[in-house]
Amino acid sequence: MKHFLDIHKTDQSELRSIIDNAASMKAARSGRPRGAPDDEQPLKDHMVALIFEKPSTRTRVSFDVGVRQMGGQTMVLSGSDMQLGHGETIADTARVLSRYVDLIMIRTFEEQTLLEMAEYATVPVINGLTDRTHPCQIMADILTFEEHNGPIKGKRVVWSGDGNNVFASFAHAAKQFDFDLVFTGPETLEPEQALDGLYTTIRDPNEAVKGADLVVTDTWVSMHDPQSARERRHNQLRGYQVNEALMAKAKSDALFMHCLPAHRNEEATNAVMDGPNSVVFDEAENRLHAQKSIMRWCLEK
Ligand code: CP
Ligand code: NVA
Repeated sequence: MKHFLDIHKTDQSELRSIIDNAASMKAARSGRPRGAPDDEQPLKDHMVALIFEKPSTRTRVSFDVGVRQMGGQTMVLSGSDMQLGHGETIADTARVLSRYVDLIMIRTFEEQTLLEMAEYATVPVINGLTDRTHPCQIMADILTFEEHNGPIKGKRVVWSGDGNNVFASFAHAAKQFDFDLVFTGPETLEPEQALDGLYTTIRDPNEAVKGADLVVTDTWVSMHDPQSARERRHNQLRGYQVNEALMAKAKSDALFMHCLPAHRNEEATNAVMDGPNSVVFDEAENRLHAQKSIMRWCLEK
């Protein structure tokens, strides 16, 4: 059985084939209405559970649409409405769901919830974001980069801001896809130690972005961060805002990415978000194509 739990837990060759298949599946649908089925229906007669313990727009809609395009059906479940949120163990929930559905996608808080779900489920489990990582996002980001600027291998990716869950999956990807990753952000919001060796830190954002092929940022306050930390984080991160002056120091064809949702004119200015280097909406679209490829891979024997 193949779970998609994290980028560093999936073989390099498998990751590459997931990206390449995503590109082919996307091309095969070009110009067709969103609701039209794919020619190939690998999820025909398959039922997929999409569990959300945190809010979501992109993950929720892209998984739902992707399953339907591939011939399957979905049920979207909110963690708080399930017994999971009322004391049933994750292991029991995993065992029960495996009797009904063919695939489980879960967005949750603790990484341990995801790992326990995968340990006890007898169907594939996909990580739709935890406090620690967001692998589906970064698969979409790599697909997006390569569509615009060719192979990511050997390229320089600069992350400006909070060393959070999305950054962590970028760090895992840097090793698996062989690109250079630079973190620029305050010492207090440095990525977790487990990621040491996967990226370099350059404290000054103006230095960090020199020669960048891709500049990335994310919200300054993630869903798992206490709202009470908001003001402090804004003060710490203000100097790492991605604005036109910062983008001007990257390569002229550097792309700008943000997983969204964005807090407009906070982590990035509107001029950058809506500017010529921004690919944020292609990135959002590619969640659909990347995840379809991930689900197909999970269900392949
Ligand atoms: N980027 C992302 O995962 O967005 P949602 O929280 O809307 O799913
Ligand atoms: N870092 C953000 C990503 C949202 C898609 C969060 O965890 O809230």
